[in-house]
Amino acid sequence: MNQDFKNLDMTMMFAIHDALRRELERITRITARVDEDPRHVLSTAVGWELFKKFLTAHHVSEDVTVWPPMERALAGRPDELALLEAMEAEHAVIDPLLADIDAALADRDSGLQRLGGLADTLYTRLGGHLDHEERDALALMDLTLSQEEWAAFSAEQRTRIGDDSSRYLPWLLDDIDAAKVATVLGKMPEPLRQAYATEWRAAYEDLAIWTPKADAALR
Ligand SMILES: [Fe+2]
Repeated sequence: MNQDFKNLDMTMMFAIHDALRRELERITRITARVDEDPRHVLSTAVGWELFKKFLTAHHVSEDVTVWPPMERALAGRPDELALLEAMEAEHAVIDPLLADIDAALADRDSGLQRLGGLADTLYTRLGGHLDHEERDALALMDLTLSQEEWAAFSAEQRTRIGDDSSRYLPWLLDDIDAAKVATVLGKMPEPLRQAYATEWRAAYEDLAIWTPKADAALR
């Protein structure tokens, strides 16, 4: 978070990107395992479903509320428009990859061979996209979007997360240092902070999001 943003508060943007990176690490660690079939882990642990849901909510919200107003504001500036096009193109490769991974999970015969390569591709493509967005697109967002447009992006994301907000906040804060937890919680309204402290965090920990279901029953 060392860039200097003058207009928009990027705290939540960096928080979601870091959470997605954390999950990418976990997913590739799981798919590299030889002691347990990773198809079993990914299809029964709740972590894969949460990852897909929160990633999709984030990307679709950017597609709907961030790139279009930026495109309008940057009309006639080909370099900036090319960057926005690249952002959309990078998003567009992720959905098919998620679908391919789901297909590999369901394929009892040859899914296992495909899964490792697909997870590595997801790691590279999504990781590369997040880095690219942070390197080049966030500064442009900061220069281009109004506070109202930025608020519309947050609202869109909130709506798309919907009933899963009680899982989203602890997922976002999973395994990050106390200072960053405090910064993110500092952006939240008091009732959410309270809910996180008294209920959501413990419920999320009980979920053990990367423990496969059969194992979870033994806990
Ligand atoms: Fe983003």
